[in-house]
Amino acid sequence: MWEDIPWATPKPHWPYERFRNMGFESGQMLGDVSIVAYDGETIAGFTMTGKRQSRDGYTWMTGVGRDYRGRGLATAIKVEALSRAKANGLRAMLTTNDEPNKAMREVNAKLGYQMLPAHVQLEKPLLH
Ligand SMILES: CC(C)(COP(=O)(O)OP(=O)(O)OC[C@H]1O[C@@H](n2cnc3c(N)ncnc32)[C@H](O)[C@@H]1OP(=O)(O)O)[C@@H](O)C(=O)NCCC(=O)NCCS
Repeated sequence: MWEDIPWATPKPHWPYERFRNMGFESGQMLGDVSIVAYDGETIAGFTMTGKRQSRDGYTWMTGVGRDYRGRGLATAIKVEALSRAKANGLRAMLTTNDEPNKAMREVNAKLGYQMLPAHVQLEKPLLH
C-alpha cells in the first residue's frame, strides 16, 4: 500500500523492521484505536494510531489493498477508529496528508477533518 501513496516528495519504502519498531516497539501506538480489516486471512485494510501529546491521537497510516478500494473500507475503519478514540477519552484525532493524495484527503474531508494552518517545506537544491 505504501507504494501507492501519492507523496508530495518521493519517500523510500520503509523496511519492515522500521515499520514494526514504530508500531510495536516504540510504545507509542494506541492499540485500541488501531484497526485491521481482514477478508479471511488477507489484510484488506488497516489504520494505525499513535499517541500525540497527552490527549490526542495521530493516524500514522491508513491503507486499503488495491482489490478492496472504492467500497468505503477506509471510511469504515476510520469511523470505527474515531469512535474508539472518543470512547477512550481522546480530545481529537490528527493526521498529515500529502497534498496530491486526493483519495485520503477526500476520505478525511468527508469525516469532518479540518485543515490546520499550512506547514510548507522548502528545499534549495545545492548543485554540485
Ligand atoms: C486512500 C485509501 C486508503 C482510500 O481507501 P478506500 O477504501 O478506497 O476509500 P473509500 O472507499 O472509503 O473512499 C471514500 C471516499 O473517498 C474519496 N475517494 C476514495 N478514493 C478516491 C480516489 N482515488 N480519488 C478521488 N477520491 C477518492 C471518495 O470521495 C470516496 O467516496 P465515494 O466512494 O462516495 O465517492 C486507498 O486509496 C489507499 O490505500 N491508498 C494507498 C495508501 C495511502 O495513500 N494511504 C493514505 C496515506 S497514509
